[in-house]
Amino acid sequence: MRVICPFLRGFLPGILVGLFTSLLFFSIWRHPSNNLDTHLQYTERLDQTPRREANANGPRNGPTSTERSDRSPEENEADWTRRIAKLAETSKVAIPGAFDLLVLVHSAAEQRSLRDAVRLTWLQRGSPNGEYVARFVIGTRYLDDSTLAGLATENEEHGDLLVLSDVEEDGNTEWPSSWKILQAFSWAVTHVDFATLFKCNSATFVDIDRLLAKRLTPQRGTIWGYFAGGVKAVRYSENSVAKEENWILCSHYLPYPQGGGYIISRNIVELLVEMGPHLDHYRHDDIALGVWLSPLRGIKKQHALWINSGYYSRGCLNSFVVSHAESVESMEAKAGSLERKGRLCESEYQSRLAYHYNWTVSASRCCVRKVGIH
Ligand SMILES: *[C@@H]1O[C@H](CO)[C@@H](O)[C@H](O)[C@H]1NC(C)=O
Repeated sequence: MRVICPFLRGFLPGILVGLFTSLLFFSIWRHPSNNLDTHLQYTERLDQTPRREANANGPRNGPTSTERSDRSPEENEADWTRRIAKLAETSKVAIPGAFDLLVLVHSAAEQRSLRDAVRLTWLQRGSPNGEYVARFVIGTRYLDDSTLAGLATENEEHGDLLVLSDVEEDGNTEWPSSWKILQAFSWAVTHVDFATLFKCNSATFVDIDRLLAKRLTPQRGTIWGYFAGGVKAVRYSENSVAKEENWILCSHYLPYPQGGGYIISRNIVELLVEMGPHLDHYRHDDIALGVWLSPLRGIKKQHALWINSGYYSRGCLNSFVVSHAESVESMEAKAGSLERKGRLCESEYQSRLAYHYNWTVSASRCCVRKVGIH
């Protein structure tokens, strides 16, 4: 012992400091507020993929099929101009037919890999039986010509983009601004005959067959979502994605359907478009919807546990029809599991407890998370 003890005396403080540091590091790493950063970094990483793809076969680097090298630069430029103009036309084209559901997927130009994952896993441009039709909604204001040409190529291939040339994405690729969503709603009511509108983001995975099977169509005046209440407002934040600079109504947001996926009856969409010129705008479409819908009578707000639409996912449960905060890989896993086993999750887990929304009390007490609510 006498031999070991002096040895330990020398090293023990070092070992303790090491242990403490790693514990501290671990707890910081596990802290929920850090998920935001991880999530953002992850999205950025995803977003780099399409750029490489675009470089490989897009117009930025070398000729595309329509941009041949035997043409003069002037001819190529004229070609770009024509294709970009054609891309902008997407918002002027009406979609023929009548649909139970119009799916609008908010997307930013650089989210190509997520759009491709959505296309490959759950969303067709239109359903075989004509129940739904879908568009990716992209704001293209201030985008440079090569990005626009990339989008033009994408749309020539898939024909499923809705380009809003007055809308700026404003660096917030995750969430659309209320300005963008109102423009999209406004387009929808004048260009598509639909009964219900489903809005989601490009990081949303949907079991579209089960969504259609819910037959939400006949219910007018309803909005289905996972509602949040009593959420503290963030006006200033280092993280530009989270903040709502214009928010002055209260220290908390008004109850709102989380933006990862909500479904609205056509008559409410029409009403919002009609009120449009008089509405205030916010950086997040869901926060704005909370304000816009609050004073209106006769709107049924259906808090749906089958919608997992928050910034943070609640995990994976087979009962989820809508799942948000997905990546390319997790969408592929879900689609694969649905195909092979007929259920959404390889294994079910809950990473945040759920709640039933209590509409009879004030928003600060609306949403009590409990074990056993799925
Ligand atoms: C809502 O809250 C009130 C008051 O606490 C309670 O009496 C009522 O049972 C709650 N309703 C639901 C559906 O949880």
